Amino acid sequence: MKKVLTYGTFDLLHYGHINILQRAKAMGDYLVVGLSTDEFNALKGKMCYFSYEERKKMLEALRCVDLVIPENCWEQKVEDVKEFRIDTFVMGNDWEGKFDFLKDYCEVVYLPRTPEISTTQIKKDIANRK
Ligand code: CTP
Repeated sequence: MKKVLTYGTFDLLHYGHINILQRAKAMGDYLVVGLSTDEFNALKGKMCYFSYEERKKMLEALRCVDLVIPENCWEQKVEDVKEFRIDTFVMGNDWEGKFDFLKDYCEVVYLPRTPEISTTQIKKDIANRK
């Protein structure tokens, strides 16, 4: 069984998220998603609309997602790859090159982002509507 791993915040789940998760799953048989915790987001200066538990529940409801694990810090990736016996690590190409150090442990793939959609953009568009 080929196992794939990706990470993200996945706040205000949108079709750009669905696209990358479906493409990630298509690269193997089992998809693990590392979901950033509220504490980790705070550390990054990021504030989510939905809590970790809410975001986790939505990801778990998707057919293409097999397992959601917490992302607590930047440094856990190598350990996650080993623990879950990951074959392929997938991220959007906004992260191009950033995780190449994982190539010692698994295949690393950067997929093109879906154009014109992001959580930040949704928040901006809604704020500008009133
Ligand atoms: N992603 C994508 N296409 C988009 C938006 C996100 O492929 N249009 C991918 C990212 O490259 C990443 C994953 O989805 O691999 C999770 O990204 P995340 O940062 O949670 O989503 P964004 O919408 O980019 O959120 P933000 O605007 O807060 O950065």
